[in-house]
Amino acid sequence: MCGIVGYTGADEAQGILIEGLTRLEYRGYDSAGVAIEQDGALDVICRKGKVSGLAHTLAHFDFTGTCGIGHTRWATHGRPSEANAHPHTSCAGDIAVVHNGIIENFAELREELIGRGHVFKSDTDTEVAAHLVEEAYADTGDLQSAVVHAASRLIGAYGLAVVCAHEPGVIVVTRKDSPIVVGRGARGSYVASDIIAMIDAARDVVVLADGQVARLTPEGVAFFDEAGNPLDPPVTHVDWDVDVAEKGGYPDFMLKEIHEQPRVIRDTLAGRLSAGALEIDELDLSPEELDLIDRVYVIACGTSYHAGLIAKNLIEGWARIPCEVEVASEFRYRNPIITPTTLVVAVSQSGETADTLAAIRDARVRGAKVFGITNVVGSPVARESDGVIYTKANKEIAVASTKSFLGQVVSLTLLAMLLAQAKGKLKTSQIRLLFRELADTAEQVERILADDAAVEEAALACKDATSALFIGRGMGAAVSYEGALKLKEISYLHAEAYAAGEMKHGPIALIDEGFPVIAIATKSPVYDKVVSNLQESKARGAMVVAIATEGDEDIRAHADHVIYIPKVRDAFSAITASVPLQLFARAIAVARGCDVDQPRNLAKSVTVE
Ligand code: AGP
Repeated sequence: MCGIVGYTGADEAQGILIEGLTRLEYRGYDSAGVAIEQDGALDVICRKGKVSGLAHTLAHFDFTGTCGIGHTRWATHGRPSEANAHPHTSCAGDIAVVHNGIIENFAELREELIGRGHVFKSDTDTEVAAHLVEEAYADTGDLQSAVVHAASRLIGAYGLAVVCAHEPGVIVVTRKDSPIVVGRGARGSYVASDIIAMIDAARDVVVLADGQVARLTPEGVAFFDEAGNPLDPPVTHVDWDVDVAEKGGYPDFMLKEIHEQPRVIRDTLAGRLSAGALEIDELDLSPEELDLIDRVYVIACGTSYHAGLIAKNLIEGWARIPCEVEVASEFRYRNPIITPTTLVVAVSQSGETADTLAAIRDARVRGAKVFGITNVVGSPVARESDGVIYTKANKEIAVASTKSFLGQVVSLTLLAMLLAQAKGKLKTSQIRLLFRELADTAEQVERILADDAAVEEAALACKDATSALFIGRGMGAAVSYEGALKLKEISYLHAEAYAAGEMKHGPIALIDEGFPVIAIATKSPVYDKVVSNLQESKARGAMVVAIATEGDEDIRAHADHVIYIPKVRDAFSAITASVPLQLFARAIAVARGCDVDQPRNLAKSVTVE
């Protein structure tokens, strides 16, 4: 969702802010703006639409100031517009604020501030912060204490960066439940809501904790607690390749990230098998403690939830532990049965999803052990869980998850094996065999990626449809849900997914001449059942696209288009079958002229409820 950048140093801020905001575009936004301090005043420029539009406007001004803040906004309070774009300013225009998160008590604060004579220029929740800082600054004449005071009045989530015309070169930042990272580079000090915005300039960063305050100047960064006591927080070194933020010759980030998946599988598995036994030390639970687990909840949203559906089959199948998979927004508002022997597995690519975080907190209060599976080191999900598995996907830029999904599936597969190992349900020899086959999926995915001709052909045949149905059984059902979501997200083609056995109970009514039915029809214990569903679909005129196992010539009799994938054990079929569906969704989106990396209305991290 929204993004924050800030710079103070030796160079002109304008270009650095635009570059940082461009790096944050992947998160999804509808407007952007900057505040640049120059000659004892703040210049604030905001534009609705893309960062390139803002850059175009700024080119006319050519500000030379060397300190500034910037923001990409994803509308929550107030429609997307120039007036609602950040930075927001005080009445006097001498204080500017950018904010990520939601200020829940903004309506009361706004009324209170208006009562004291403040004039509001936007419909946002954020603007109250600018006026609160203004009042506190009038009392103290110190930006840092003014920001701390203002933050103490806010209920909700916030990452805040504030500049003041009377304190040249100073940026004050603080946060609660919304990420802020601060870094020092050779040419100045940087702040952002996401490391990627500053990766070229600063690789040693501090991930601010809730309530901490950072004061950035051209000379360096000082950290404090809310009471103003100095802090020395740990520094994290970021070792991603800089090209994570580049397309590397691919037409879009999504295709690049789909092609990174064999590497993700290998990296996620690296070092996990030692002397024939699985090890996930980060989970910080002994085999005895793992053995006590008698119920598992996987909680997540969107694509991460689909990874959970896949894991359910494995956790129940191998470890024989009852496993429920639930969307976090439901889990957090009901009264789930949790005991000290319940394991909650929270899955989140970004590690910042508001509903998943709330569910983690709730589960821990109720006494569950919580494991996080996330892609972002130091993210709130990682910090707030008892143990964490990192998915090793590296930064994912395209809004639609692909490589992080596969990383989640592989990590959850490892977790299922670990539980089975601890419970004595899988012998060492079985673990070794499974692990080897799991590792082989990297090469199998490479083979799928090497030849996408059948995917392209099927996509061209379906691109003009208005709706599509994805079906499968068992693992195939879970894969279908993700396939339909991918298609919806990036091509805006309506798609639904059903467990194929449900066809006769309703969805079959949708099928008429040429209606696309995409089926996961790989060789599995339920293969014949899926084939029956295909026959029923074909009999009603459907255009069937089948994802099938190499060598299965019979399937051609039941499908208009067949996309073959290598033969794998059913337990790992979700890994291989998901890949052609990702390519299929992307190919349709491209054919329909959609923005594959930044689909409308979507944000990469859903940090509000
Ligand atoms: C994935 O393609 C989606 N953009 C979305 O469903 C996403 O998976 C969901 O918002 C959860 O995000 P998280 O994994 O970062 O928690």
